[in-house]
Amino acid sequence: MTQELSTAAPAHLPRQRGDWWRDAVIYQVYVRSFADSDGDGIGDLRGIRERLPHLAGLGVDAVWITPFYASPQADGGYDVSDYRAVDPLFGELSDADDLVREAHRLGLRVIVDIVPNHTSDRHPWFRAALAGGPERAYYHFRPGKGEHGELPPNDWESVFGGAAWTRVEAPDGNGGASQPEAGGEWYLHLFAPEQPDLNWEHPAVHEELASVLRFWLDLGVDGFRIDVAHGMVKADGMPDIGLREQAKMIGAQVLPFFDQDGVHEIHRTWRRLLDGYEGERIGVAEAWAPTSERLALYVRPDEMHQAFNFQFLRCPWDPERMREIIDASLAATTSVGAPTTWVLSNHDVVRHPTRYGDGTTGLRRARAAALLMLALPGSTYIYQGEELGLPEVTDLPDEVRQDPSFFRAEGQDGFRDGCRVPIPWTRSGSSYGFGSGGSWLPQPDSWGELSVEAQTGVPGSTLELYRAALAVRREHPGLGAGDAVTWLDAPEGVLVLARDGFLCTTNTTDADVELPVPGTALLSSATPWFGDGTVRLPADSSTWWAI
Ligand code: GLC
Repeated sequence: MTQELSTAAPAHLPRQRGDWWRDAVIYQVYVRSFADSDGDGIGDLRGIRERLPHLAGLGVDAVWITPFYASPQADGGYDVSDYRAVDPLFGELSDADDLVREAHRLGLRVIVDIVPNHTSDRHPWFRAALAGGPERAYYHFRPGKGEHGELPPNDWESVFGGAAWTRVEAPDGNGGASQPEAGGEWYLHLFAPEQPDLNWEHPAVHEELASVLRFWLDLGVDGFRIDVAHGMVKADGMPDIGLREQAKMIGAQVLPFFDQDGVHEIHRTWRRLLDGYEGERIGVAEAWAPTSERLALYVRPDEMHQAFNFQFLRCPWDPERMREIIDASLAATTSVGAPTTWVLSNHDVVRHPTRYGDGTTGLRRARAAALLMLALPGSTYIYQGEELGLPEVTDLPDEVRQDPSFFRAEGQDGFRDGCRVPIPWTRSGSSYGFGSGGSWLPQPDSWGELSVEAQTGVPGSTLELYRAALAVRREHPGLGAGDAVTWLDAPEGVLVLARDGFLCTTNTTDADVELPVPGTALLSSATPWFGDGTVRLPADSSTWWAI
């Protein structure tokens, strides 16, 4: 049954529909860790281009590439020093151009990351700001508190731990941490000190970022993933919060530095800019909002096209919570006419097979969750390696760690290197086919058997499950369409989701569950057993049915 389904790569053409993004499956490439073409141990643009056939064969509609711009790499490229240049680590501008053209030839759209909340501390603007130039107004510099200004201007904490402020020398060379009495100011950085926050009240900041968007749109990209789209505007007067461990409040409540209503005006301006281009170029907000309703504000008709649904990503393996979050997400986005998005993993969180449980339990649940997610109306994001069932790497030695949150560790519990380990392409060989020169983070010995090569053509492998699911989704566009689902009565712990001509059954319990056969089985994350008019759904599994 499940094995009979053709897993051949679908020969697909770019979707010409104007609303291609409403049900698109978008594959996230973390550029450092996808494919390394030049043997320096770090992934690059040419590596991505060479591996595009894998993505076309998988059946995704688009690829989102994390930042590859000139950057000192203090935060994996999310610290940009030149928004219009490719970092030499990743190639040249012509490689970006070639990549976009080749992706389009293969029917894949390309979304690039844009980082508007902060620049690198090596960006010419910040260098000039430190030297006392007018660019100082492009950032948030404030005098400190205390007798000599030796205390930060307020109690805001960096998302990566520690204070969100760093003191600098005064432009005349005095001050700074070693000479507190000399009066240097402090600058705001909601992330690492190497990522000073931009002041979006200054028109020059608006103009420059709009010009950067146009630069990449002119090169042919199909849209942007907007980093920290909820962060650009800070509350008037930058009030104290009065509580510690603020990183834990992100996405749970509105903070004076996140999810302020003023950010929506920026998104409206960008929507007008995007709409000025042909071909439905899109904006995807990385917005951490406390509720589905507040998240929906980012995707009102005159704002962004999509926003990541982190409520779904954060949902534990619990059928009631999953159902509630799915319903709440659909209701919220439907109220503004936008599609919902679904995502289980990305480069900032522990990979979901590891989140869902130990060893084989986690993987079983991850495969079941994938079929549930791909049966939902809206657009789905797949994080590189998810299609291989890769777990989090939990035993990286301290000396190879690169995530800035690891080094500013107070109060942090989720370091992000373990989900960024380069992915395996081949059973053996240098870094399992990632590149000829090893890999910037060590891969576990077991990864050869999880490689694309080892899983290709193997019935029941996670890779073939994803290929088959995306092929079914493509043959039956009704699966991703619409904006609502119907839940049918089911035994405790089982979700039965009805879609136009389809059912998805998900048994979230740790035991088999028997049901009357509901239709013709199309695809399963674990093979069910059929009896006389009944079917036993294995523990932690999903099955798609045609009805
Ligand atoms: C976003 C990115 C994350 C980065 C941060 C600062 O959350 O996904 O990787 O560290 O923004 O730019």
